[in-house]
Amino acid sequence: MRFATKPIRVGQELEPGHRSVIQPLYQSATFGWNSLSEIPAIDYTRCQNPNRQTLEQIIAALENGKHCTVFASGMAAIMGAFSLLQSGDHLVMASDIYGGTFRVAEKLLPKWGIQCTEVSAQDSKAVEDAIRPNTKMVIFEGPTNPNLRLVDIQAIAEVARRNGILSVFDNTFASPYLQNPLDLGVDIVVHSTTKYIGGHSDVVGGALVTNSQDIHDEMFEYSKTVGAVPSPFDCWLTVRGLKTLSVRMKQHCENAQAVAEYLEGHPKVAKVHYPGLRSHPDHSLAKKQMRGFGGMVSFEVAGTGEDACTFAEGCQVFLLAESLGGVESLIGYPPLMSHATMTEEQRVSKGIPPTLIRLSVGIEDVDDLIEDLEQALAKVPVRTASAV
Ligand SMILES: Cc1ncc(COP(=O)(O)O)c(C=O)c1O
Repeated sequence: MRFATKPIRVGQELEPGHRSVIQPLYQSATFGWNSLSEIPAIDYTRCQNPNRQTLEQIIAALENGKHCTVFASGMAAIMGAFSLLQSGDHLVMASDIYGGTFRVAEKLLPKWGIQCTEVSAQDSKAVEDAIRPNTKMVIFEGPTNPNLRLVDIQAIAEVARRNGILSVFDNTFASPYLQNPLDLGVDIVVHSTTKYIGGHSDVVGGALVTNSQDIHDEMFEYSKTVGAVPSPFDCWLTVRGLKTLSVRMKQHCENAQAVAEYLEGHPKVAKVHYPGLRSHPDHSLAKKQMRGFGGMVSFEVAGTGEDACTFAEGCQVFLLAESLGGVESLIGYPPLMSHATMTEEQRVSKGIPPTLIRLSVGIEDVDDLIEDLEQALAKVPVRTASAV
């Protein structure tokens, strides 16, 4: 079965009672037993539920994986991956990682006796050099947030394999439509299904996908024990969102390319970060590793941090809000939103100047998007180099 057909057909038979085409919502905490000698396959919704099972089958199929476990949020999924670590273990973490993952590594892992080293995952030798005898896992992601740099997934997965450690890749920004890290040798794929997988900004969720039966068994036990599971309705909504993943992603990519090209030609824009631009440092790797360049664009306003805020607040079609991956276009100001918990020094060291804006380009008419950017840029004062 090909990619676009999978979310529409995998795990979805006509329901036997009324032959409903869409799977009914099993909004039930518990399921009856026929007898004490016959344990039902699904007996209690913290452990499993038919809507959740269907969602897991679809996400596994889209990632070309054998197994999937879904969670109540992307962070709960990341905690699931970290539950494979124990006291005395060491984690290698990409320095360009989602802020929530960074927060777990900084605040929680030390309490549990797990050490962590941050390295640039763009340098596979640096990743290998960071591995110690007690290293158990490397976690990385790409395109990265907010600078949309790429990491050679196959190279890092190979380093992990050679050193006998687990590789965990957060594929949220690309979605399975654009890249399948398991095919490149990664052990565990993470998703915040809140983003492109759900696609409509109406549900928070997460997923882990793997080909390993052992890892899957541990994830199932972990999720059952901790109980950070999504509700049946959240799973139902996510399945509905997933059915249009292919068409949405095509439009996200097309619109984002047009927006990036428009911004690159604008005199009030100092720099555009989009893997689909020839000027992007990882353009060749993106062409090799991805099937499209994604819906995320970031750029630096030619001016001050204040100018970037004026621009962000001046947009009308792009909504000023956290998150990404929904059908609607969102605008984010990383210093006050996704990266607000870092100091300015930490942000600048990660390539996040006060002039940086992040766009999640939606699937609206692209002319409306470009007109919106145009009118918001018109509100930004023209600065001479000395005034910046
Ligand atoms: C790359 C990435 N991973 C994980 C998460 C966490 O996901 P959630 O908000 O669903 O917990 C996010 C959220 O923005 C993200 O951008």
